Amino acid sequence: MKQTSLKLKISQYTGLGARRIARTNSGNPEPVSLPAGHPYLGIRDKWYLICTKQELGVEPQARRILGEDLVLWRDGEGNPRLMHDYCPHRGAKLSIGDVVNGELQCWYHFWRFNSDGNCVSIPSQGGKCSLQSRTKVAQTYPTVEKAGFIWSFIGDQEPPELELPFELADPSYSMFPESVEWSANWLLAYENLADIMHAPFLHNRSLTLSGGIVEDSVNVSNTETGFRVERVNQQGVNFDQVEIDLGHIMHCRLDIPLKASFAGPGPNLRIVGFVTPVDDQNSVVHFPRFRQVSGWRRALWRFLFRVRLRGTHLHVLNQDKAMLESLRSIPEAHRDEHLAQADKPVLHLRRALRPAFDAQLAGLSPEWISTGPLAGTKATEPQGKSQSAEKAGP
Ligand code: FES
Ligand SMILES: [Fe+2]
Repeated sequence: MKQTSLKLKISQYTGLGARRIARTNSGNPEPVSLPAGHPYLGIRDKWYLICTKQELGVEPQARRILGEDLVLWRDGEGNPRLMHDYCPHRGAKLSIGDVVNGELQCWYHFWRFNSDGNCVSIPSQGGKCSLQSRTKVAQTYPTVEKAGFIWSFIGDQEPPELELPFELADPSYSMFPESVEWSANWLLAYENLADIMHAPFLHNRSLTLSGGIVEDSVNVSNTETGFRVERVNQQGVNFDQVEIDLGHIMHCRLDIPLKASFAGPGPNLRIVGFVTPVDDQNSVVHFPRFRQVSGWRRALWRFLFRVRLRGTHLHVLNQDKAMLESLRSIPEAHRDEHLAQADKPVLHLRRALRPAFDAQLAGLSPEWISTGPLAGTKATEPQGKSQSAEKAGP
């Protein structure tokens, strides 16, 4: 009996150690080459979708978001917390520590931090150290769990109330989450969503996005917090419209027609898309998929989605991923473009984001604007021979 307990104890300790070592094995990601606040790393003072609630268990996780290395963890009440992944003692990663009694404990010397990032224990000092009350994790970001997802406000202002796209709070919609990582800048991902005319070409062999005519032009109209893009000569056949919202939670909303013979009876597939910047080269795109169906139609839809539709949608997403990853960095992607009428929404997006870009660039030292590795990023016209009818943007 004694032996069994000892074995159990050893396995618990080695198991814990192995898990922790596994968490450290990811190593340090490539350093971010841009200063915090550069708009290529993301627009600050916005709410961002971080992950589903199921993705965050009891162990802290390392997350890079808007170019910052952060630790995501749950406190004693089970509330999600997001703060700098940097112990203020000697700089160890807090994400390879542990949550102990609802507080985040650094693995190196066991300094412990509460949900606000305040140091609450320095065990080597026996709790009698004034340093404790003066020590804090450098940055914490407001984080909440809502509608099955974890959301963080990445910024320096007071966060506005988190108002989610209505589908997330409406139980008449049946939802499947989906998140994928792309080695592409967040702006390229939003440009791809605004560029509805890529669908009949890039996705011309897909089940859901291959129909309709390929020669068309697009209209762009402003909404209260963004803009709407619509094809002129076709609706309800393909990816024929999208709304881009640039408000407190940047997102897009689009509908994809579904054949009842393939997906069961019901209205269009609704996709609400969110792009969370990782750094200037990487993003996580979240595409929760919705269908407003109930009763047996919902049961059938959920069955068919799992066995048929999810695979086809991942196939489509992989086509987008391959294309965006081929565009390389933002300066390279935007260099020497030749933009046509169908690219109007891409330019509209860049122009709409221009004030936020300029505001963030204004907070940086001038070298990052005019003489650094991103020389030309403050230019308001695309460089090179552009055939675009209108020119503007980041
Ligand atoms: S580096 Fe974190 S406790 Fe020492
Ligand atoms: Fe696409």
